Amino acid sequence: MQDLTGRIALVTGASSGIGRATAVALARAGADVALAARREPLLEEVAEDIRALGRGALVIPTDVTSPSAVSQLIARVLAHWGRLDILVACAGQYIRSPIRELTPEVLQQSLAVNFYGSVYPVLEALPHMLSRGAGHIVLVTSMDGKKGLPPDAPYVAAKFALSGFGEVLRQELHGTGVGVTVVFPGRVDTPLIADLEVPRISAKIPPEAVARAIVRAIRRRQAEVIVPFQARLLLLVNFVSPRLGDWAVRFFRLEGWAKERA
Ligand SMILES: NC(=O)c1ccc[n+]([C@@H]2O[C@H](COP(=O)([O-])OP(=O)(O)OC[C@H]3O[C@@H](n4cnc5c(N)ncnc54)[C@H](OP(=O)(O)O)[C@@H]3O)[C@@H](O)[C@H]2O)c1
Repeated sequence: MQDLTGRIALVTGASSGIGRATAVALARAGADVALAARREPLLEEVAEDIRALGRGALVIPTDVTSPSAVSQLIARVLAHWGRLDILVACAGQYIRSPIRELTPEVLQQSLAVNFYGSVYPVLEALPHMLSRGAGHIVLVTSMDGKKGLPPDAPYVAAKFALSGFGEVLRQELHGTGVGVTVVFPGRVDTPLIADLEVPRISAKIPPEAVARAIVRAIRRRQAEVIVPFQARLLLLVNFVSPRLGDWAVRFFRLEGWAKERA
């Protein structure tokens, strides 16, 4: 079990939802945390929560779709604390479109944030972590990165790409001292899917539950996190028979439906 006291962490997507909860959970575990996302006022609120826990917080407004902004992000963390022990790449957007209506622009928009937006921080942080022979990288993908749901093709394509990238990253880094965890959440109660109703079988879990699982995974250097537990059942069914997996998606309406406005 790794002790996280005094570790330096960077969380992207830290202004909301899973990223915000993970940043606070890391601080509770003893880490100082750099917070990246676009909305600075929200990052400042998270920073206040972290400082109230007695840990250091550094707000760095960043658009993760920009390689130069991400390069500056990592440089600022290193300039401030001299090292980076934990990177949690969590920024993302739920970009859906039926394939028959899909445009190249929408596909590119999803890949920009949901794939490249996590890959750029890894590429920037990796030389530093490798030179120290220590560190841990967490990539937050999605259950949509293991079993695609309609009409999520742009999101699914990016999350499958990120899942694959993480799988290779973990193997290439074996023996270097740098660990990798790939996280596959099911439905989580955050602004990302606030307008979506989901069936009870895939009920939304609190972001704090995902954050706890992420901190535990870093401590244990776990390869994968799939939450909640019942999400594994769909993967098992789909592994045995993809057609049965497709049927389960249709039968339970796992893609969800629009929330009725009051
Ligand atoms: N909620 C779910 O059901 C669920 C399920 C599986 C996986 N996930 C994944 O979990 C991660 C976090 O999602 P969430 O549910 O916590 O959603 P959320 O509450 O909407 O948070 C998304 C975060 O990403 C940041 N972000 C979006 N675009 C960005 C950009 N271009 N540059 C920098 N930051 C950006 C947002 O900050 P700013 O807007 O301030 O930039 C925000 O902090 C995402 O990768 C998502 O795909 C979520």
